[in-house]
Amino acid sequence: MSLRQLSGAQPTFSWKKLGRNDLCWCGSGKKYKTCHEAFDDRLIRYERQGVPVPQRSSLKKATDIQKIKDSAKINMAALDAVAEKICAGMSTLEIDRIVEDVTRKMGGIPAPLDYKGFPKSCCTSINDQVCHGIPSGDDILKDGDIINVDCSTILDGYFSDSSRMFMIGEVSAEKKRLVEVTKECMEIGIKAVRPWTRLGDMGDAVHQHAVKNGYTVVREIGGHGCGFEFHEEPFVSYVSRPGTEMLMVPGMVFTIEPMVNMGGEEIFVDEDNEWTVYTADRMPSAQWEVELVVTEDGCEILCS
Ligand code: MF3
Ligand code: CO
Repeated sequence: MSLRQLSGAQPTFSWKKLGRNDLCWCGSGKKYKTCHEAFDDRLIRYERQGVPVPQRSSLKKATDIQKIKDSAKINMAALDAVAEKICAGMSTLEIDRIVEDVTRKMGGIPAPLDYKGFPKSCCTSINDQVCHGIPSGDDILKDGDIINVDCSTILDGYFSDSSRMFMIGEVSAEKKRLVEVTKECMEIGIKAVRPWTRLGDMGDAVHQHAVKNGYTVVREIGGHGCGFEFHEEPFVSYVSRPGTEMLMVPGMVFTIEPMVNMGGEEIFVDEDNEWTVYTADRMPSAQWEVELVVTEDGCEILCS
């Protein structure tokens, strides 16, 4: 038999309750006791059990969600414009121009531009490029390529983030299957988002589907909280285990964006530009990304 040590610092808990008749922190205008008090009690019980929980300040209120949706409208329009024009012979710099033009015309700012020194307005990652490919006039799309275009927009201080795969001309059956299974991985992840379950439950569902299809999932790079900032807590893994990682609760906004490799999971970063990530075995990689908010009974996609 062992006893828990009583000495040492008491754990500190981030969630503090309000007075029962105070106005609720969520901005509903209702009293705390008729609004989020039960929610807080539930969350505090998890936190006391040692489960990682989100900070209250990171949760998005209804007004925040609307702002993220406004930002996402631009992001999705930019990707729609790319979808319409993308073809063999086009450079990835032209894709960047399309994204920049649509975003600016609609009043947004491309979030990647100047983000930690990133030089362009979106990421374009072809074939064995896993993510963070830098658009360039020298990179010309050719028949058989698969490419991820990753867009992120700032509008009125709110961030949206999503990416899609495009297949150029006649793509091999192997690459086509990779692109399709990766989309299924994202969709399975979306279906696994339920409040009061763990991010690891979702991550494992994504991972299992990739493995079942003979693929691997990148470990070092994942999704992220999003909305108030480009990248917020938590880090969202797609190789995580059930019953681990942060608790999902209504109002949490994060991305599901698994990177799925046809070959091994190992990756490396381009030494010259210090951005572009490649598969170590130079086999193809695919990625799809959505941004979502956890709701009372699942989730709602904000940006796709
Ligand atoms: N949209 C990417 C993401 O999901 C971010 C790439 S922008 C870069 O995190 F500037 F960091 F390259
Ligand atoms: Co992202």
